[in-house]
Amino acid sequence: MLHLARVFSSPFSLLLIFSHCVLNPRNFSPIAVSAVMAMDPVRVLVTGAAGQIGYALVPMVARGAMLGPDQPVILHMLDIPPAAEALEGVKMELIDAAFPLLKGVVATTDVVAACTGVNVAVMVGGFPRKEGMERKDVMSKNVSIYKSQASALEKHAAANCKVLVVANPANTNALILKEFAPSIPEKNITCLTRLDHNRALGQISERLKVHVSDVRNVIIWGNHSSTQYPDVSHATVKTQGGEKPARELVANVEWLQGEFIQTVQQRGAAIIKARKLSSALSAASSACDHIRDWVLGTPEGTWVSMGVYSDGSYNVPAGLIYSFPVTCRDGEWSIVQGLTIDEFSRKKLDATAEELTEEKALAYSCLS
Ligand SMILES: NC(=O)c1ccc[n+]([C@@H]2O[C@H](COP(=O)([O-])OP(=O)(O)OC[C@H]3O[C@@H](n4cnc5c(N)ncnc54)[C@H](O)[C@@H]3O)[C@@H](O)[C@H]2O)c1
Repeated sequence: MLHLARVFSSPFSLLLIFSHCVLNPRNFSPIAVSAVMAMDPVRVLVTGAAGQIGYALVPMVARGAMLGPDQPVILHMLDIPPAAEALEGVKMELIDAAFPLLKGVVATTDVVAACTGVNVAVMVGGFPRKEGMERKDVMSKNVSIYKSQASALEKHAAANCKVLVVANPANTNALILKEFAPSIPEKNITCLTRLDHNRALGQISERLKVHVSDVRNVIIWGNHSSTQYPDVSHATVKTQGGEKPARELVANVEWLQGEFIQTVQQRGAAIIKARKLSSALSAASSACDHIRDWVLGTPEGTWVSMGVYSDGSYNVPAGLIYSFPVTCRDGEWSIVQGLTIDEFSRKKLDATAEELTEEKALAYSCLS
């Protein structure tokens, strides 16, 4: 809980917690501290909230899956005018669900009202690719959405607002958002590759018939697209005989370098084929995992994948939003350093970086 206080709370509530501890040293208890902190709900923006992912995500946030079981929240939900009535319906359902942690709901089509005072912004709204549309046309629509929402966040969000872009092309939308919200620290702007990370954990767990929570430290490198590189070179699995490399237990390089990678890369398409709709519950759940680990920290010895602003680590060009292995502490992520990259991996890291460089150029060409 103290992590959350540090990351989100106002100076006033921190002062309250401090005075509580100093004035009542004998009565100090974490429960009392969290009661004081509970005075400050965290404001969470979900854009595209009337859509599929939004509908799965908002109840998760209201139940504490994103910020913890004791943290009250106020949900800000944004959608566009044609979806206003559906958005109102989502608000009605949130009221009807009587979530104890939910201290308020703002449902609006006004971007300024949506962004005002938010501590966390989950950007799910975007323009989908429709049949017959050129890539550039879709990019151009999303560039203009992310440019204007960046300005609204920059002017109206709370200081230190943390941003997660989910809408595709997620990495490049996040990059545009960063460009047009220069006062938001670049460390606060990320995109979702946690769904791909969780998919990779799931595939290893299915293959080895172990529980998914016993698998850790897979990596998704690069773009949230079919060029992403799901990498198990450093992944481990908890067994009765201790922690073992996933590679050693799978003992099938051909599968790891072929079918495994393709299954994770193509999982979104497989879900559309089966459901006739794209993944929503797993995307929403992974968005909660992303923010929870960012804010509350990754477990000791475990890393996760996040799309973050590249500083040139692992010779990935600086200035892209690229998925790296990261650990989080005190509300800040850091790229895991020093992992060995073999020749197979190097090619994959470079190929997905190349695609992101092209996407970046396409997005910038839409600005001019
Ligand atoms: N990064 C990932 O892992 C991941 C996974 C799954 C889906 N996605 C992407 O997430 C996005 C949402 O998916 P979905 O299934 O919920 O789609 P959806 O079409 O069901 O919902 C999108 C919602 O966004 C709204 N919207 C459109 N423009 C908006 C704007 N300017 N401001 C606010 N809202 C706006 C729409 O009205 C709609 O309600 C898509 O871009 C999808 O490709 C990303």
